[in-house]
Amino acid sequence: MAVFGEEFSTNISFMDNGTRKFIFELNKLSDAMKNGEGRQYVIFALDFLGEYSEKHLISEEKVMIKYRFHDIEGHAVQHEEFRSELQKIIDEYAAKGAEHSFPLLVQRFMGGWLSRHISRADKVLGDFLAASAKKARP
Ligand SMILES: [Fe+2]
Repeated sequence: MAVFGEEFSTNISFMDNGTRKFIFELNKLSDAMKNGEGRQYVIFALDFLGEYSEKHLISEEKVMIKYRFHDIEGHAVQHEEFRSELQKIIDEYAAKGAEHSFPLLVQRFMGGWLSRHISRADKVLGDFLAASAKKARP
């Protein structure tokens, strides 16, 4: 089970709330899988990821511009990779439904984003915002 801890905390509330929600949704999927309900549940995780992409990632992109973040391009490229990977996953679901291994694919996608982007690039962005603008908001 993933836990919101120091490695994610930025003290920028919209960033931290986004991370908490992401972890909460990842844990819900993991719990469903443990209970043998992953294939039924996984559509809710996909719904969340679509909303996360449309709302949270766009909020970050707005705030990077507003506060002139030094690595907008590098950060935005990772968001684009997230979106294109998510689209592939959604297309797979549309074509084949939730096959046996599909919940694990979504769980790995979310876990990878948490460890490779949220705990790194988002932490850098959050620390930048905390330093440059105490109450940074999108
Ligand atoms: Fe980000």
